Amino acid sequence: MIIDPSAFRQFEHKGWQEIASRYDRGFASVTTQSVTPLLDAARVAKGARVLDVACGPGYAAAAAVARGAIATGVDFSSEMVEEARGRYPGIEFLEGDAEQLAFSNSTFDAVVLNFGMLHLARPEQALAEAYRLLRPGGRVAFTVWDTPDKAIGFGIVLSAIQKYGDLNVVIPPGPPFFRFSDDEESRRSLSAAGFVNIAVTRIPQIWHLPSPETLFDVMYNGSVRNAALLRAQKPDALEAIRLAIRQAVIEYGNTLPMPAVLAAGERH
Ligand SMILES: C[S@@+](CC[C@H](N)C(=O)[O-])C[C@H]1O[C@@H](n2cnc3c(N)ncnc32)[C@H](O)[C@@H]1O
Repeated sequence: MIIDPSAFRQFEHKGWQEIASRYDRGFASVTTQSVTPLLDAARVAKGARVLDVACGPGYAAAAAVARGAIATGVDFSSEMVEEARGRYPGIEFLEGDAEQLAFSNSTFDAVVLNFGMLHLARPEQALAEAYRLLRPGGRVAFTVWDTPDKAIGFGIVLSAIQKYGDLNVVIPPGPPFFRFSDDEESRRSLSAAGFVNIAVTRIPQIWHLPSPETLFDVMYNGSVRNAALLRAQKPDALEAIRLAIRQAVIEYGNTLPMPAVLAAGERH
């Protein structure tokens, strides 16, 4: 499949602009569970200069500041930057693209991306930028979702679409959503960007859903690629998908395993 990076970027950008104000009520209850291990993997400690890339509402930057670090957050969505500024007024949040950032070389001790890599048109370019921005010995760390057989929220939704709808509807093609869930691919990509001392681990997260309807609701109203996949289904199929997702969530007792893959490396 041929990826047009600027079309994919535009599709993601429009999506994030629209859902920024709803994000905290949706996926954030799970993505925030990764923040402590992410900062640990990047060895963020008091006094460290930290860049939180694809920062969304700014959770990782805020947690870094709580450790005594000096943090800046960047996101390409102006709506997300506004969310972050409103939530954490003492922290600097800027608009910026993970693939081309306006900072000088060797500015940071740590660069972190919490669930950002899987949304980028050219993730290799973001790793190259992280490398450029880190001082020698500085660390990058990123999280992504584990594969849908383990990150059950995605497994439920994709199985329901496969059974009652069509997984091959046309949405702007981007890099595979679960590309970096593969340990070897994460290692290979970090190594290709020049990073050494690479480690890939897993974070066992749990999504406690307030109701059986929440999973469909968050995917439909609070995500970008999965929302587009759902919105492209025919009305009858979408209703069957919604009911199948609801039933599966009930079978899991509204409590879904949503592990993350955490990859980290050091600038040479
Ligand atoms: C799943 S959210 C993660 C937000 C936050 N880091 C968290 O921990 O929950 C993905 C974020 O990536 C941002 N994003 C996507 N592509 C980007 C890009 N090319 N440059 C900067 N930010 C980007 C989106 O605007 C969104 O805020």
